[in-house]
Amino acid sequence: MNYLIINGSPRKKNTWAIVEQVKSNLEGNFEEIHLSKEDIALCRGCQNCIMNGEKYCPHYNQINDIIEKLRECDGIIITSPVYAMNVTALLKNFIDHTAYLYHRQEFFTKKALVVVSTAGAGHKKVANYLDETLRHWGVNKVYKIAIQCGGKDSLETSKIDKTSRKFRKDVESGKMHSPKLGDIIFFDVWKAMAITDDPIKADKEFWFETGLVNNDFSPDVKLGFFKRIFSRIMFNIMKRVI
Ligand SMILES: Cc1cc2nc3c(=O)[nH]c(=O)nc-3n(C[C@H](O)[C@H](O)[C@H](O)COP(=O)(O)O)c2cc1C
Repeated sequence: MNYLIINGSPRKKNTWAIVEQVKSNLEGNFEEIHLSKEDIALCRGCQNCIMNGEKYCPHYNQINDIIEKLRECDGIIITSPVYAMNVTALLKNFIDHTAYLYHRQEFFTKKALVVVSTAGAGHKKVANYLDETLRHWGVNKVYKIAIQCGGKDSLETSKIDKTSRKFRKDVESGKMHSPKLGDIIFFDVWKAMAITDDPIKADKEFWFETGLVNNDFSPDVKLGFFKRIFSRIMFNIMKRVI
């Protein structure tokens, strides 16, 4: 299996020690992206990625290199220490550059593992934020490891090992999980947005070109009978509301 690690820590210390422990439980190839070395300029807020298409982002080449690697990998590992109760600016800047993915989700078949370290607080909140971000990208299943490192000389490895092994098993199985109702609602929101009288051009192109506009959810992920009905009802509501 091929794993892509997107490291949001500017150094290889507490968060990276957890990643090393995670890696010891996985088998395959690891590609590392250290955002501190990527030197991605700050998002300028032009909204070109959302409104006109990601190719119009002034930093498209750098961002797209990472997006391509995300497309190719089997498992995503995304990491951050807690900085002022949030992710690092390095990681937030990368996430800001992916805001268009919220409108045009594509990572439906990917599984991800979030790794967060903190001195004392904020780890669960930050792990939940990354979980939410990845789900907006379309990611099928997110595992979370959030560890307090303050005042500890060594890592408590049992929780890391347990979650890493679950992640590994899931990635290797290729099994797709049924989406949460919230994920279906967001799918229907963006689908409904794409078919309004005045849609965002890039969204409309994406939803029609991918054929997603004709589906209740990504065709790569099976919806049971009730979730299929739920999606249709939500889509009809969204069409009227938007
Ligand atoms: C700028 C900065 C802000 C931080 N903010 C918090 C915080 O809000 N809460 C906390 O418990 N720890 C905070 N920490 C501590 C780090 O989250 C913690 O030491 C983390 O394990 C560092 O990971 P690293 O070794 O990968 O850099 C902060 C550290 C830095 C440098």
